Amino acid sequence: MKTENYIPQKAKIIKKEYLCDDVISLRLKVLGRKSFSFLPGQFVMLSVLGFGEVPIGITSAPKEKRYFEVAVRSVGMVTKKIFTLKEGDYIGVGGPFGNGFPLSEIKGKDLVLVAGGIGLAPLRSLIKHIAENRRLVKSLTIFNGARCPEQLLFRDEYSDWRDFSEVSLSVESCDSSWKDCVGNISEIFGRTKIKRGSIMIVCGPPPMFDPVINHYAGKSVSESDLYFLLERKMKCGVGKCQHCTCGELYVCLDGPVFAYDKIKYNQEAFK
Ligand SMILES: Cc1cc2nc3c(=O)[nH]c(=O)nc-3n(C[C@H](O)[C@H](O)[C@H](O)COP(=O)(O)OP(=O)(O)OC[C@H]3O[C@@H](n4cnc5c(N)ncnc54)[C@H](O)[C@@H]3O)c2cc1C
Ligand code: FES
Repeated sequence: MKTENYIPQKAKIIKKEYLCDDVISLRLKVLGRKSFSFLPGQFVMLSVLGFGEVPIGITSAPKEKRYFEVAVRSVGMVTKKIFTLKEGDYIGVGGPFGNGFPLSEIKGKDLVLVAGGIGLAPLRSLIKHIAENRRLVKSLTIFNGARCPEQLLFRDEYSDWRDFSEVSLSVESCDSSWKDCVGNISEIFGRTKIKRGSIMIVCGPPPMFDPVINHYAGKSVSESDLYFLLERKMKCGVGKCQHCTCGELYVCLDGPVFAYDKIKYNQEAFK
């Protein structure tokens, strides 16, 4: 990894958008760096002086190197501060860090992405990458769930995504105008058949993991083809502080993306 990735660099917020009431999208340009290269599924450490730093996945396409985008949900001290920043303000950026999604394993395969809430954020980078490289996978299926229709992120992009993928949506509460699945995301699992031998990547809150494992692991998706993006508190992002450890694994260095067969006996991984 380049030294410049370790040291937080100043980045300018060149665009800010509200994706829903508690999630913003920021477009960031790192100062003094002509290009910012990353892989889908990698994350950055965003820092605000006096508040701290947080790991946040990259949502934009890797082909665009002049800037990158992130989506931040306001949950606690640092993310609430980031929420208040405006276009033209500056923020610290470290990274990119982590292994990213398994791009070589998905080549030519049927790929299924399962997203819950803010979990769609890092997957959007992969979806955009596939949009630009349509022969990368044989087929793409996206299962996306949220609490209510207004909380579904990147809603205005779904019609474009449907040009090259099948998109199934579910929400837990809605009014009668909602025509897709109602309930948690496992409602979709019962209704939509996926091809045996598919690769599946899951990003979302841990309560979503058990239904995925029960429905697919070792059945239509082999345990080594089922991937989870694990979220852990992080401080350094580079294997020094141990804040992110899950048993023997460092989420910042070994992950954040792990195949199920590598973590299935790891008590910490699914908390
Ligand atoms: C690899 C990785 C990628 C991530 N990508 C994104 C992303 O793209 N967008 C995004 O918004 N967040 C993402 N996160 C989560 C984000 O890092 C946390 O929400 C953030 O660190 C919270 O910091 P805070 O100081 O705002 O909240 P804190 O003050 O640390 O926590 C405030 C409250 O929020 C809860 N909380 C903290 N972290 C989480 C969490 N991950 N999920 C749910 N509740 C939490 C705490 O338990 C506490 O109750 C990612 C995390 C990892 C490890
Ligand atoms: S975040 Fe410090 S060791 Fe992983």
